[in-house]
Amino acid sequence: MRLSTKILVTGAKGQLGTALRRLSHTYQKADWVFADRAVLDLGKPDQLAAKLTNICPTLIINCAAYTAVDKAESEPVLADLLNHQAVAMLSKWASKNHCKLIHLSTDYVFDGQSRIPLKEDAETRPINVYGATKLAGEVACRHHHPGAIILRTSWVYSPTGSNFVKTMVRLMQEKQSLEVVNDQLGSPTYATDLAAAILAIIQHPSWEPGTYHFSNEGMVSWYDFSLAIKEIGGFDCSIKGVPSSAYPTLAKRPSYSLLDKTKIENTYHIKAPNYKESLRRCMEIVQNTESND
Ligand SMILES: NC(=O)c1ccc[n+]([C@@H]2O[C@H](COP(=O)([O-])OP(=O)(O)OC[C@H]3O[C@@H](n4cnc5c(N)ncnc54)[C@H](OP(=O)(O)O)[C@@H]3O)[C@@H](O)[C@H]2O)c1
Repeated sequence: MRLSTKILVTGAKGQLGTALRRLSHTYQKADWVFADRAVLDLGKPDQLAAKLTNICPTLIINCAAYTAVDKAESEPVLADLLNHQAVAMLSKWASKNHCKLIHLSTDYVFDGQSRIPLKEDAETRPINVYGATKLAGEVACRHHHPGAIILRTSWVYSPTGSNFVKTMVRLMQEKQSLEVVNDQLGSPTYATDLAAAILAIIQHPSWEPGTYHFSNEGMVSWYDFSLAIKEIGGFDCSIKGVPSSAYPTLAKRPSYSLLDKTKIENTYHIKAPNYKESLRRCMEIVQNTESND
């Protein structure tokens, strides 16, 4: 019987992986292994089981994913390999080896037709390749590891990597006017808050498997979110709200993807901070750091 907790974080250099690394000192009881692509390549499923056996974790937090939503339209096989096939392998290994698993998924498993916050059991119908591969990953995870936790989140941003907040900060410094889409509604998620939620789950006295939703509190459009960035950053740039049709993208996006967080609140007593409060914390870091990458 293994006595200690060994936590493996995949996709360690991504937004969530980095946030988890920064918070990992708050849970020193565990041995943490942060594996980037060089250590654990999910694109090589034939090597996965042997590498996992070698690391021998008691909990895997699967942050690695193919996250390039538009590029996935032209790379469906690779997106499926990482977001579905590799998740199936990971889940099988974890289940067989009595290893807990927290797998990250997305609001893009929904089609955007709802106008009420989406509960975990709301009907899924992805409208792009990324969403379809993430949904296939969820299905495989539930099938191979019924004891796993699937955590769906939305619009993730952080001081590292490429994301909407960093792009907006840069554009608002460079340009006098911007157009931002105002007909996609959802909630942003600060990677640090998501990492804190994961740490709360891990340290909760009981492990309650199933699917959960987590994002920051508050519903916004990308346009609203850009106005909050402008206000907090003190930028002068003028911003105009435009429909998505003004900026066609390769992948369709759901027009509504607000996640209902009641289940994670009730089960794990996790309360998500308001999006503006978290945005303020992130922008303080972004604006005080020359290069965050
Ligand atoms: N970002 C969002 O807006 C968003 C929204 C909803 C849900 N999610 C989900 O939340 C989770 C974390 O997202 P994130 O924002 O942290 O994503 P991210 O910043 O794009 O990080 C993903 C990580 O996966 C790694 N990865 C890609 N291919 C890999 C491979 N073959 N083997 C191993 N690692 C590989 C990437 O490594 P490289 O840096 O080497 O490419 C990257 O570090 C994902 O499951 C994502 O689907 C994200």
